[in-house]
Amino acid sequence: MSSLHSRKKESYKIFDQIAPTYDSLNHLLSFGIDVYWRKQMMKVLPQGENLQALDLACGTGDVSIVLGRQKKVGSVEGLDLSEGMISHGRQKIATRGLSEKIKLEIGDGVTIPRPDKSVDVVTLTFGIRNFSDPRESLKNIYRVLKPGGRGMVLEFSIPANPIVRWVYFFYFRYVLPFVGNLLSGHGDAYTYLNKTVEDFPYGEHFADWMREAGFRDVKYRVLTFGIATLYWGDKPVEK
Ligand SMILES: C[S@@+](CC[C@H](N)C(=O)[O-])C[C@H]1O[C@@H](n2cnc3c(N)ncnc32)[C@H](O)[C@@H]1O
Repeated sequence: MSSLHSRKKESYKIFDQIAPTYDSLNHLLSFGIDVYWRKQMMKVLPQGENLQALDLACGTGDVSIVLGRQKKVGSVEGLDLSEGMISHGRQKIATRGLSEKIKLEIGDGVTIPRPDKSVDVVTLTFGIRNFSDPRESLKNIYRVLKPGGRGMVLEFSIPANPIVRWVYFFYFRYVLPFVGNLLSGHGDAYTYLNKTVEDFPYGEHFADWMREAGFRDVKYRVLTFGIATLYWGDKPVEK
């Protein structure tokens, strides 16, 4: 087992340590594009009313909050293993007056300790590449979805254009780890972040993982030159 793999099992502990600076560094290091990416995700929410949403690896709750602001979403539960990230998220949710609609709890995004066929939509942003068993997570996302429900994953990917890719690697390998480690005060959190990005499947490869987990009509949209990719797939209605 690679050291990167074994480290993924405990990656939430890193997030506990960087929780106080996570939001501000996120927006700084992504030049605010992460806000736009999360909004793009809302465009592919399934149709319906009073949707029950589950936001895995919810961190400080940015996606949970955007979900909670959608009219067609009735309730949001966010799960994360990092107490530090969740407690920041809960404060943000309370400040915005959304505590009735959005609840954040400790919970594993791989095993997903929630009943079968219990939610309409599952979101997972910038989390699955940190999971020890991403394919098991996809299977469990499929399991907890009601028939007709939708799984949505937003994750970093590698740009296809060689010039953009060169700039991207330079930024991810050198600038981001240096600035991130320095400002978060954590020895190598952002070096680790970069390694998990380069290591992880994207595009058709990741879409195939979703199909293997059972999802149908799997689609994906490349965002911002391929720096990130949004994937979604449906659980068919039972006949
Ligand atoms: C990069 S953050 C993403 C947070 C949030 N989704 C966002 O878009 O800002 C990754 C999150 O995954 C969480 N995490 C890592 N392993 C996990 C697991 N097995 N189950 C649930 N959360 C996990 C970490 O604690 C961290 O909050």
